[in-house]
Amino acid sequence: MPPMRIEIVPDDATLASRAADAICEAVRQKPDAALGLPTGHTPILTYRELQLRQDAGEISFARATAWAIDEFADATRTTPGTNTVFYREHLRLNLGALHVPNPGAAGPTEHIRAFADALRRAGGLDLCVLGIGRNGHVAFNEPGSPVDAPARVVNLKAVSRAAHAATFGSLGRVPHRGMTLGMADILEARKILVLAHGAHKATVVAAAIEGPQTADIPASWLQVHDDVTWIIDDAAASALTRNAKQPRG
Ligand code: GLP
Repeated sequence: MPPMRIEIVPDDATLASRAADAICEAVRQKPDAALGLPTGHTPILTYRELQLRQDAGEISFARATAWAIDEFADATRTTPGTNTVFYREHLRLNLGALHVPNPGAAGPTEHIRAFADALRRAGGLDLCVLGIGRNGHVAFNEPGSPVDAPARVVNLKAVSRAAHAATFGSLGRVPHRGMTLGMADILEARKILVLAHGAHKATVVAAAIEGPQTADIPASWLQVHDDVTWIIDDAAASALTRNAKQPRG
């Protein structure tokens, strides 16, 4: 298995620019690429950078499709804090299609299974972009998720709900359940790009990259994939101990 590539960047702007480079590269290689795109604070500047490049005519996403990797359950399509609302606000790209699970689905288990089936029938993800939660979650694959976890409904951990209190307005408004593509769906992507910034991610980033493969840190399962690139800032890289620190390009 080739080792994961680790690119360490000095600041948020460089992270966004390098991540946008990687996403644009995937779309140039395959204009109808299927992209898995995360929510959260981390990718916001990257999405803005993609929008700038699109508006400048440097790249077109018109034939590309984007797929949410997760969504809250027990909400509606207009509930502030949901991924549906996030994409509306932050992903201002003219895409061929944007697929997001319905946070108001009456049967979230069937709904997310059908969503993952539709993704598989469409050919799977060419590039899956990921953030990483403080507790090592990817999408909503919380600690305890095995490497072959399927798309499913999950009970969100307290730390994950707390991270979303501000966007929902208060902790009490954050749903207790989420729908997520499984580790298995994510690992089927042909390429994976993981983004992380900030000192609060340093410990979990080191565990995911240098620690054992374990359900305790679902991001550590990315080690089994043969095409993973991490783009992380100096602060998020600060707990890495091995040769992972490569000179900046
Ligand atoms: C959220 C999302 C993940 C995201 C992660 C990190 O709960 N479900 O897809 O990557 O947490 O978020 P942030 O970038 O805000 O740290």
